Amino acid sequence: MKWENFPDYESLSARAAQLFLDFIHRKPNAVLGLPTGRTPIGMYERVIAECSREYRCFRDVTTFNLDEYVGIPGDHPGSYCTFMKQQLFEHVDIDRRNTHIPNGTAPDLAAECARYEAAIRAAGGLDVTFLGLGANGHIAFNEPGTPFDARTRIVTLTESTRAANEAVFGADVPTEAITMGIGTILESRSIVLLASGSNKRAAIDRLRGGEVSEEFPASALWRHGDVTVLAT
Ligand code: GLP
Repeated sequence: MKWENFPDYESLSARAAQLFLDFIHRKPNAVLGLPTGRTPIGMYERVIAECSREYRCFRDVTTFNLDEYVGIPGDHPGSYCTFMKQQLFEHVDIDRRNTHIPNGTAPDLAAECARYEAAIRAAGGLDVTFLGLGANGHIAFNEPGTPFDARTRIVTLTESTRAANEAVFGADVPTEAITMGIGTILESRSIVLLASGSNKRAAIDRLRGGEVSEEFPASALWRHGDVTVLAT
């Protein structure tokens, strides 16, 4: 696990955007795993700014988002689908058919999870996955106690995760989500974890400590050979 420490959020975001852009320059048809949340917003802003100066930045890129709320339609302001459109997809030349987000309103959610896994495989697997970090160590929506071999599935959100998302939903924060599993994420060829925020300090220190435990989902990343942690 490679650690890079930054004095502030701005410099962390600049480095994350540089890694992102280097990746799609090296492999223009890269398959990316993408996060939502407040942390990656600065990265996306910088990626957009750079790509607005370039020709065909995202033309052949494919993306798979990590997660989506159950029961929230894609056009709901709190959906991760809306987030991705606003933070990235509307501003770059990506082909929308190559963007994938689990469908939290699918009539058969188990089938949707299986379909999502199959779509990742059909795309050739994830080349690089960018992750945020939950204050309790969750990655995507894999909460403490998740087996490290878990696949894409329906999960119940913890109270702390629901509270962290109150700003968008008010009292009606969804109780469930579809998330890529830790096993799915670990199959990504490279992983970049963005860890920023005063409420993440304990989680960052715990991850740095190196103890691997299913009670702390991010520690699964120690089992992977190509992880870069950007921390502030
Ligand atoms: C949500 C997302 C995670 C994200 C986490 C942290 O739970 N499902 O993928 O990493 O929030 O979000 P933030 O970056 O806003 O702290």
